[in-house]
Amino acid sequence: MAAILTSTVVTVVAPLAVYIFPPRNPNQTKQKIRIALDTQVDALQEGGVSRFQAPAGMAFVMADGGEGNSAGDPTFAGYLTRDRGNLRALAITCPHLGCSYAYDDGKRHFVCPCHGSEFALDGAVLHGPATSPLSHLTWQTGPGANEIDVDGINIGS
Ligand code: FES
Repeated sequence: MAAILTSTVVTVVAPLAVYIFPPRNPNQTKQKIRIALDTQVDALQEGGVSRFQAPAGMAFVMADGGEGNSAGDPTFAGYLTRDRGNLRALAITCPHLGCSYAYDDGKRHFVCPCHGSEFALDGAVLHGPATSPLSHLTWQTGPGANEIDVDGINIGS
């Protein structure tokens, strides 16, 4: 029984865990990852969100942390939001236990499918169990109207 359990963990859970929590390599240097959004940055309306994804073999790095997230942690996607006039890029990794949250069209904010935490467009916790706000990504506008450059790392293929 123990052998079956061990083999299940190694063959099924371990690859998923590596995908969700990729190993950190302190020797990796940050670089700008250019992302084409589904909207022009200036056209993102108040209360609007635009989800973006890191290219294959790349990950964004969190600028700050809280709970399970720490500055420097990798994440594979994020949201650009406009809230009370401010643009923010937020890491998609829920600070509670690392699931990817999503925008809820009805609630008009973020909801994590794993345990129900909810977050405002500025990253603040609206509903637990999460107790820490969403992590930010460091970003700047790119050369194209729909492009942003986000801090990230090459994690290989
Ligand atoms: S991982 Fe998001 S609420 Fe638990």
